Amino acid sequence: MAADLIVGIQWGDEGKGKIVDLLAQEYDVVCRYQGGHNAGHTIVVDGKSLALHLIPSGILNPNATNIIGNGVVVSPEALIKEMEQFDDLQGRLLISDKAHLIFKYHEAIDKAKERLRGKNAIGTTGRGIGPAYADKVARQGHRVGELKDIDKLAQKIMDYFAMNEAYFKALGVETPSLEELKKELAHYRDALMPYVIDATNYLWELLALGEHKILLEGAQGTMLDIDHGTYPYVTSSNTIAAGACTGLGLAPKDIGRVIGIAKAYCTRVGNGPFPTEDFGPDGERLRRQGHEFGTTTGRPRRCGWFDAVAAKYACRLNGCDELAIMKLDVLDGFEKIKVASAYEYEGERIDYVPSDLENVTPIYVEFDGWESVAGVRRWEDLPTEAKLYIEGIEDLVETKITIISTSPDREDTIVRK
Ligand code: IMP
Repeated sequence: MAADLIVGIQWGDEGKGKIVDLLAQEYDVVCRYQGGHNAGHTIVVDGKSLALHLIPSGILNPNATNIIGNGVVVSPEALIKEMEQFDDLQGRLLISDKAHLIFKYHEAIDKAKERLRGKNAIGTTGRGIGPAYADKVARQGHRVGELKDIDKLAQKIMDYFAMNEAYFKALGVETPSLEELKKELAHYRDALMPYVIDATNYLWELLALGEHKILLEGAQGTMLDIDHGTYPYVTSSNTIAAGACTGLGLAPKDIGRVIGIAKAYCTRVGNGPFPTEDFGPDGERLRRQGHEFGTTTGRPRRCGWFDAVAAKYACRLNGCDELAIMKLDVLDGFEKIKVASAYEYEGERIDYVPSDLENVTPIYVEFDGWESVAGVRRWEDLPTEAKLYIEGIEDLVETKITIISTSPDREDTIVRK
């Protein structure tokens, strides 16, 4: 049985958490394949608020196994803190021995570089994501499996500091003391090693058995993909569906259904091109009605209209079989709702995403608004204008919309056959 995949098709924060949470109830295994604790969502279960950054959302299904794949960058400190929210994770959480580690110095490098970039700052989450992936690609990173032998790992980290001494000095990043480092690593080893496995082999065995339903959970969104997003204003991993292959050790044919997740409008945190951003009262209203503030950093999100050109591009990149449209209720009460159906680029009308997205001007189509869709659970009960909006997006993006979310509650979801 192939694994199904959930992927954000905008700039992240599409509301994947609710869909993964909804679907996780029917999956036996949920895997994260890229990103780190830059991602995040808060889920309320039985009145208790749980913040998830690294642990897959399947953790809310007591019967599901959750895997952090090799493509994820793991901050042991952040992961341990997150794990402490749960009583017993033994058998429910597995961490790939090949996942790379994020240390405090990665965070310090991230912040120092952002400072130095000045007005060209990317607006990272400051979690050390980019520097950790940079070390991985530069073949000077450290992997979770190395926690097995902390003396060796500590020495390797000291050697890394010695080799990069001039660089760290320039950035103002301090070399740790060997003793402190060993103490820190011992804590990580004790807390994490019981969960560490060869995740790829484990997944292959499950796939060979063919008895388990496996869900692959993407973090961030397509437009933040290191290769296909709005470079350099992107995150440092392959956020698209293909990232699940490298980030878990799966072959393309191991992936089955691909579900793209989009909000009914667009948001972005951090800097970089965002063609449909609305700087006026509509943007402000979307931020207010949609509570658009970052879960990880608390930053206000930039808000704007649904970008069907970018969404179509993302559907093609990911091979989306279907789409979920989230937060439709946030558009309640707008008289007119705009959607970018094409761009003007170098004096011409285009319907694709050029690599210099900052140079396009959106061309909009307008839809009539509606009073309220909040809490609607059946397609038949949606106002006609909302149906026309959904069908309009479907036509522009050329992908079927099968799920529509009308409130943060799990139950307030329309499933269209
Ligand atoms: P980094 O991933 O911290 O390096 O940040 C790079 C860019 O990706 C910045 O614009 C961040 O705001 C953005 N980003 C990273 N993680 C998320 C996320 O989970 N949701 C939305 N944006 C994100």
